[in-house]
Amino acid sequence: MSAPMIEVKNLWKEYGNNVVLERMNLQVKAGEFITMVGASGCGKSTFLKMLLGMEEPTRGQLLLDGKPIPNEPDQARGIVFQQYSVFPHLSVEQNVILAREFERSPLLGKLFGRARREVLEEARALLAKVGLSHAAKQYPHELSGGMRQRLAIAQALIRRPRILLLDEPFGALDPGIRKDMHTLVHQLWQEHELTVFMVTHDISEGFALGTRLWVFDKLRRDDQAPEAYGANITYDLPVNRESLAQLKERDYG
Ligand SMILES: Nc1ncnc2c1ncn2[C@@H]1O[C@H](COP(=O)(O)OP(=O)(O)O)[C@@H](O)[C@H]1O
Ligand SMILES: [Mg+2]
Repeated sequence: MSAPMIEVKNLWKEYGNNVVLERMNLQVKAGEFITMVGASGCGKSTFLKMLLGMEEPTRGQLLLDGKPIPNEPDQARGIVFQQYSVFPHLSVEQNVILAREFERSPLLGKLFGRARREVLEEARALLAKVGLSHAAKQYPHELSGGMRQRLAIAQALIRRPRILLLDEPFGALDPGIRKDMHTLVHQLWQEHELTVFMVTHDISEGFALGTRLWVFDKLRRDDQAPEAYGANITYDLPVNRESLAQLKERDYG
């Protein structure tokens, strides 16, 4: 049995008096594709931010390869948000290159000569992979929602992350486009041997994409003090037909 890639031990996350997550314990192996659902405000994005290193646990441990996750984002972990920032005055291709330049030389922020050509080639290959070759010279305002998310994915992948974090990345897209994005993400997950954590508000998307689905919810609640207790993973389901049926019975469908 291989050691877990991610290990969460008695993790709590609080903002002041607001207990967001409580007593979380779990393990994730390299190569899993975790999808996460749960009510708005129950801490899914916060959990992703802790995986990214943007937020720290209040108590407990969050380990990557047996060591605490570094306290700032690094290239091992890439993230795609529903709303993300690009440089509007840079083309698609330049935005992808910039994502790499920041990682390689954060102080200089610019690559020259051979290094630049290599990154350019890599950016073009990635744009081809995400289906944006034809738009490489376009500017962000010229892109559709689906194309923007393709760009965001290329920006995350050019840093060659092992872990890809997706925070409701397709929530704003039309159903048909979303389906194309599912195919793309699945393909990238396999080709790049990624471990994926994806938040979605669409449970069928969770089942369609993941190898494992987490339902975030509060086990304890106090209506007089809604911030007193945190959420946890109340269902941790391997994805197969049977688990879908079980979940529907419990009225989450
Ligand atoms: N930086 C922050 N400071 C204070 N409270 C926060 C911060 N980020 C999130 N929260 C609170 O944490 C809770 C969980 O938020 P979030 O993780 O965004 O939920 P979800 O992604 O599941 O909708 C909410 O009550 C939110 O107000
Ligand atoms: Mg969120």
